Amino acid sequence: MIDINKAIEALNWDKEPRGLYEPIEYTLASGGKRLRPTLALTAAELIVNGGLINGDAIDQALPAALALEVFHNFTLLHDDVMDRAAVRRGRETVHVKWNDNTAILSGDQMLIEAYKLLSDVPADKLPKVLKWFNEMATGICEGQQLDVDFEHASQVSIEDYMHMIELKTSVLLAYAMRIGGYIAGANEAQQEALYQYGLHIGLAFQIQDDILDVYGDPKTFGKAIGGDICCNKKTILLITALETADAESKAELLQWMMKQCTKEDVQSTKEKIEGVTAIYDRLGVRKACEDIMEQQTSLALAQLDRLPQNNATERLRELAEKLATRKS
Ligand code: IPE
Ligand code: IPE
Ligand code: MG
Ligand code: MG
Ligand code: MG
Repeated sequence: MIDINKAIEALNWDKEPRGLYEPIEYTLASGGKRLRPTLALTAAELIVNGGLINGDAIDQALPAALALEVFHNFTLLHDDVMDRAAVRRGRETVHVKWNDNTAILSGDQMLIEAYKLLSDVPADKLPKVLKWFNEMATGICEGQQLDVDFEHASQVSIEDYMHMIELKTSVLLAYAMRIGGYIAGANEAQQEALYQYGLHIGLAFQIQDDILDVYGDPKTFGKAIGGDICCNKKTILLITALETADAESKAELLQWMMKQCTKEDVQSTKEKIEGVTAIYDRLGVRKACEDIMEQQTSLALAQLDRLPQNNATERLRELAEKLATRKS
């Protein structure tokens, strides 16, 4: 079994100029769940153990798995600039520890490094993998733009939200599954089931991320709580609250949304987070969102029934269930 953390540690960032490479090293050494490479490698293992092919097909999925993790970390550098987030994985974000320019440029270099890793995908598999990787990368940019647009949009439906998170979060998990499986020899039907599993756990994953942004413990979550409330992110919690609130609660919520949070004004930031959270509590928004998350988890689990059943399939089952109750 490949140790993904060891493989990431083995990447060499001992290069000049340090101003470019040190933030990359810092980011990749800061841990994280390593979810995307784990998905790619587990998908490969599922297909290999499924008896379709044998040999070193899992090892062959490693460059793509690494590329996916480096790419994911690149998106975090830029996302933290866009969201003005100060903490990630319990540490200062790159734009805070260094500055915005560093987060932009080291992020750009990580994107390039991801493609360099991808070039080690077996030559016969590379054309499709590259096509999918590009589709995924474009999806994330489109999703991130929608996420920003929605902050200022007055009407965002659950459907709009699901479309946005499919792009900004799910496609990466879905393509991690498809790419890992494909490199290991998955047929079209299996690729589709792997992709759909990734897509649905991705939707559940982002819903849980939104919930943890309000109800998480910063120590285990590794990020600051309330960032989404501060900038009126159209999270599933806010959309559900706006859709289900009585006239009085809705008016109160809209009042809070008019209040701008500034970094300097700690007290008013705290008040806005507490005020909005109290409305969420009153409306039972968390439970409603957890129900939607569970539906997505069930849809993901159903995809696994279409695949060979082995140890890797079982681990994906456990992973889907674990993600729905994750705290970090
Ligand atoms: C953070 O992803 C970005 C989202 C899609 C919510 P993760 O929660 O997987 O981040 P790390 O890699 O484990 O830190
Ligand atoms: C994650 O959305 C999407 C990407 C990083 C592409 P968030 O903005 O919710 O992620 P976190 O909460 O900062 O990790
Ligand atoms: Mg963010
Ligand atoms: Mg964001
Ligand atoms: Mg978030």
